Amino acid sequence: MSRLLHAEKMYGVIGHPVGHSLSPLMHNDQFQHQSLPAFYHAFDVMPEYLGDALQGLKALGVSGFNVTVPHKIEVMQYLDGLDEEARLIGAVNTIVKEEKGWIGYNTDGDGYVQSLLSKVGSALPDSNILVIGAGGAARAVISALTGHKAEQVTITNRTFSKAEALQERMAERAAVCALPTQQAEKETPSFDIIINTTSVGMSPQTDRMPWPVDGLKPGCVVSDLIYNPLKTKWLQEAQKRGADILNGTGMFVGQGAIAFEKWTGIQPDTKRMHNVVMKQLGGN
Ligand code: ATR
Repeated sequence: MSRLLHAEKMYGVIGHPVGHSLSPLMHNDQFQHQSLPAFYHAFDVMPEYLGDALQGLKALGVSGFNVTVPHKIEVMQYLDGLDEEARLIGAVNTIVKEEKGWIGYNTDGDGYVQSLLSKVGSALPDSNILVIGAGGAARAVISALTGHKAEQVTITNRTFSKAEALQERMAERAAVCALPTQQAEKETPSFDIIINTTSVGMSPQTDRMPWPVDGLKPGCVVSDLIYNPLKTKWLQEAQKRGADILNGTGMFVGQGAIAFEKWTGIQPDTKRMHNVVMKQLGGN
């Protein structure tokens, strides 16, 4: 990894904690690969210093940065403008310095849908889709799904009122349907795509599953936003039952690739980004 040189542009990610972020590795490798004089750094910013950190990044002339947990919502008050998708989602993961100032984007959902499209292609609009969870990740995914013309999207969540609130939030874009968990479980055989946006099954609680695997529609896509572990117990069990599985590495790479392009105007080599991430995660 190169040291910051005078003419280099500076990018980064702010989060807390952020020490395990794979973004610096992925972006710095890509800057080098594209021969771009740029550098990406992870900044651990505690919530009480968020405003100060933003001022500092502006003062230092940073060209753009990513935002991760827990700052994706709070950061919006410090920006000069919001992209339509970020407004609908209600969270920002990418900030770009533009003529009008700091503009917030959300590339999580589109990053995810790009990876999903590699599985389902043109079948997406006609697929019957279940999204488990109603938090920030679910908002990003559902917003992007409806943006890609998905017409049958059902949301279910442990706390049903949040699923209903999300249904209302998305109503300006498309009709999505909130279903209580028990009812949605009964409809499992009807879903072509089931997406887990909760943390259930993430390390260290790897023996838990977010959704039953009995009764899956033959050949359906079962997709987990988690990539730690690379293959959750839920994905393993679904695969044993014939499902086509998709983990969260595609979403991580996809959101980073879209951010990279917004910052540099250059389309990154996403295959290389994926390989760098997989190598670090111990996959292939
Ligand atoms: P994120 O931004 O990653 O989506 P979040 O906004 O905190 O994080 O949302 C987490 C989602 O995972 C919520 O839908 C949450 O359900 P509740 O709304 O009922 O809290 C869901 N979730 C987290 N832990 C869960 C668990 N053990 N079982 C079921 N759902 C869970």
